[in-house]
Amino acid sequence: MSYQAKMRVWRGDIEGGALQDYSVEVNEGEVVLDIIHRLQQTQTGDLAVRWNCKAGKCGSCSAEINGRPRLLCMTRMSTFSETEVITVTPLRTFPVVRDLVTDVSYNYQKAREIPAFKPPKDLQPGEYRMAQEDVNRSQEFRKCIECFLCQNVCHVVRDHEENKEAYAGPRFLMRQAELDMHPLDVHGRRAEDAQEVHGLGYCNITKCCTEVCPEHIKITDNALIPMKERAADRKYDPVVWLGDKLFRRR
Ligand code: SF4
Ligand code: SF4
Ligand code: FES
Repeated sequence: MSYQAKMRVWRGDIEGGALQDYSVEVNEGEVVLDIIHRLQQTQTGDLAVRWNCKAGKCGSCSAEINGRPRLLCMTRMSTFSETEVITVTPLRTFPVVRDLVTDVSYNYQKAREIPAFKPPKDLQPGEYRMAQEDVNRSQEFRKCIECFLCQNVCHVVRDHEENKEAYAGPRFLMRQAELDMHPLDVHGRRAEDAQEVHGLGYCNITKCCTEVCPEHIKITDNALIPMKERAADRKYDPVVWLGDKLFRRR
């Protein structure tokens, strides 16, 4: 059964823009991205929207639907009533390029600031071995599709452009945590650097990042809070500090 959905879509660019109303056909089983594509095909050929997989795996189609950060391709139209006005706006935390497309280069910059995995000097690729328990511990973090919905919703940067320089955001603090849990990473200061260099202290564990993650990664509970604890232990507990120096990564 088809019906006409009332769509309100933000149109504009870095200079400014406004919400515009459209009426678009919806068919059974469709997602918001289908409706945006139909809008493009039938009424607004120049509407800009970024997408690739339409399967929740590439992380490209991030936007805000009724003010909530979501993937356009994973949000079913059936979750809204047929009479509801559905508002689609670009991610608020990043500068708009045009319409629903934002410039997410802040995230690539933060990714570059994190030193890569550093294996022991005496191990060659192919000789890396680790216990299944260690593999499991950080497995969920590797499900990240880099949609940056968590980066977009985190209040530390959402309303505070001035914090962006000092703050890596949940996705990249989680990457630090993943490396800190890696038994073969000899960097040795991941948690301390997260705290001192990448702004972990700005995070006040509100868990908004966890709530919007389409991969259901427990970013706050499993990455950020344990890393805060490890950073504090290593800094203030001399026994932990000495144990780390003597036994860590052995
Ligand atoms: S838990 Fe921390 S990283 Fe996540 S949204 Fe809240 S302040 Fe940001
Ligand atoms: S942690 Fe989740 S919300 Fe954040 S970028 Fe990865 S998949 Fe997206
Ligand atoms: S188009 Fe790839 S996640 Fe939506």
